[in-house]
Amino acid sequence: MKIAVLPGDGIGPEVTHEAVRVIEALDLPGIELKEAPVGGAAYKAYGHPLPPDTLDVARAADGILFGAVGDPDCDSLERNLRPEQAILGLRKELTLFANLRPARVFAGLEDFSALKPEIAGAIDLLIVRELNGDVYFGEKGFRETESGEREGYDIMSYSESEVRRIAHVAFRAAMGRGKRLCSVDKANVLETSQLWRDVVIEVAKEYPEVALEHMYVDNAAMQLVRRPGQFDVVVTGNLFGDILSDQASMCVGSIGLLASASLGERQTEYGTFGLYEPIHGSAPDIAGQGLANPMATILSAAMLLRHSLGLDSHADRIEAAVAGALAAGVRGGDLGGKAGTKEIGDAVLSRL
Ligand code: IPM
Ligand code: MG
Repeated sequence: MKIAVLPGDGIGPEVTHEAVRVIEALDLPGIELKEAPVGGAAYKAYGHPLPPDTLDVARAADGILFGAVGDPDCDSLERNLRPEQAILGLRKELTLFANLRPARVFAGLEDFSALKPEIAGAIDLLIVRELNGDVYFGEKGFRETESGEREGYDIMSYSESEVRRIAHVAFRAAMGRGKRLCSVDKANVLETSQLWRDVVIEVAKEYPEVALEHMYVDNAAMQLVRRPGQFDVVVTGNLFGDILSDQASMCVGSIGLLASASLGERQTEYGTFGLYEPIHGSAPDIAGQGLANPMATILSAAMLLRHSLGLDSHADRIEAAVAGALAAGVRGGDLGGKAGTKEIGDAVLSRL
């Protein structure tokens, strides 16, 4: 069982280190971890945020544990050399089109939400975000208008097959949860969204048990703070999903606790090939100080074991250890506490 470890930039290496300690502590036979540089760190060492060797290591693995990318030193580089291109490149090159971002409130942490505790306590949702299409990957550039003004453009599009495959992932996820699916679009304005909606309705015929509703993205943003408990599975495109998943993380209380999986269709010997990352970024302001909460990365490692390696019971153990540490009052700076990166890692390890 091969795990590629791509720590990246900022707090990425620190939080990934703790997740690796957790995986190693399980003492699983046949696990092989291989580290490779990515993001600004890779640019500085090799001149590219996603060097070919790193892509090879990622491709050869069953699952990829990813830290974070983003480095203020690189903000003025050409767009294709910026650290963010590494994660976009991995998603695209490896056809990781389905991003699963679960959000629920850990018992006892209701008060950390930006919402009233009784509203936050009801959150238990899964955002299924499409990752390979939309305005992220359409033609883009700068041009001059007829009047000589500068103009930037990014083309938004979705093909039927792209919508169909993400819709299947979402319906299957709903079947495994509360059997309710909310498809978020902007079909009142965008043709891309009209096609999205039409295809989702077609796919729904194969899942008669799932209750499907459609919601415009502006309304969804509003409902997510008004009554987030109404959502079970939410499926949406790349751009809307990017925005709504950050919003959902703050409804839960801390961005330091949310894990994510990016999956494709390729099956490995043990499960589905995928990339796993915390949803927080590289947090350059606290990098290298041992202050970052590694829980989201540890929970991402648990998702890797579950989805890519078929090790469900070990994933359950890790998740229980994190929940146990939180219940015992272990709090990182993201939750107003004083526990550092290593201390939180130790607290999880001691409960495994
Ligand atoms: C995310 C991030 C990325 C995205 C950035 C780093 C390119 O915000 O994973 O949500 O926009 O997808
Ligand atoms: Mg984002």
